Amino acid sequence: MALTDQQRQIVAESFSRLIPISEHAAAMFYDRLWEIAPETRPLFHATDMPQQGMKLMQTLGIAVRALHDIDSIVPVLHDLGARHIRYGVTVDQFALVKDALLWMIAQTLGEDYTPEVHEAWSDAFDLITSITVSAYE
Ligand code: HEM
Repeated sequence: MALTDQQRQIVAESFSRLIPISEHAAAMFYDRLWEIAPETRPLFHATDMPQQGMKLMQTLGIAVRALHDIDSIVPVLHDLGARHIRYGVTVDQFALVKDALLWMIAQTLGEDYTPEVHEAWSDAFDLITSITVSAYE
């Protein structure tokens, strides 16, 4: 499931384009998530969404920077997964988050969102998710 060097580079480059527009990117992501999966909205009933958006982008950034040495952040992702159990998030919902995230990246990159970019992000998210949901076992 490891990514190639080229895939890691693609993910890092495209993520760097999200950083200057993090707040907007996160808002787009949650709007999309709630559009495709309205049942996830109540999970955020008491959440400060702008702050939540920044936390999400920050954590994604940490994971993206650690893709070459994913073992170094296994404990971080495992703890993140354990907290998500407490938030009432199910394993199935990670696939919905993946769809919304990839959609947001596609919207942001426009014509630069090639099949290679899609594949790289898909593999990166699957890797990050597999470690995060290991907390559910
Ligand atoms: C790998 C994927 C994910 C990442 C990187 C991620 C990241 C985060 C981060 C950084 C937080 C802030 C609080 C904390 O660190 O515990 C958080 C909270 C939360 N996330 Fe996620 N998350 C992911 C998947 C999901 C999924 C699949 C759902 C379900 C729709 C979800 C729903 C929530 C909820 C409900 C909160 C709590 C909000 C609150 O504090 O009120 N997350 N997430």
